[in-house]
Amino acid sequence: MAVLSIRTLPDPVLRQKAKRVTRIDASIHKLIDDMIDTMRAAPGVGLAAPQIGVSLRVAVIEIPGEDVITLINPEVIKRQGERVLEEACLSVPGYQGEIKRSVTVRVKAQDRQGREFRIKGEELFAQALEHETDHLNGTLYIDHIESPDKLRELPRQL
Ligand code: NI
Repeated sequence: MAVLSIRTLPDPVLRQKAKRVTRIDASIHKLIDDMIDTMRAAPGVGLAAPQIGVSLRVAVIEIPGEDVITLINPEVIKRQGERVLEEACLSVPGYQGEIKRSVTVRVKAQDRQGREFRIKGEELFAQALEHETDHLNGTLYIDHIESPDKLRELPRQL
């Protein structure tokens, strides 16, 4: 297990459509473990494989106080409602923006044993599900920003 460096814009890997995982072997398990370590060290509530330079459809999400969730080949199968919220991304450091996300999101994915499961998210978890599956399609939250004044530079943190 290792904490890896997080790719930031304009790294082209962030803009690629990641490939489906066809075989869940030891290398995928190591990737997942490294992603969890890297997400926790950041710290962040989610991380997608392209953010550590691996263009595969794998993401991890850990909402504070809840179990970590591993998503292999995730697909959003249903979105409901709309809400405006503040979002940021480890790959776009120093910024925060206002965008619209769904209220409820349903995702189909495989777990680390390759078993298919479906999960429903609300609130922060729904936001993370959309944000991380977006990453696997080369989409960043800044692409959802409707006007430049909705993106703000954050004060530098020491
Ligand atoms: Ni992100």
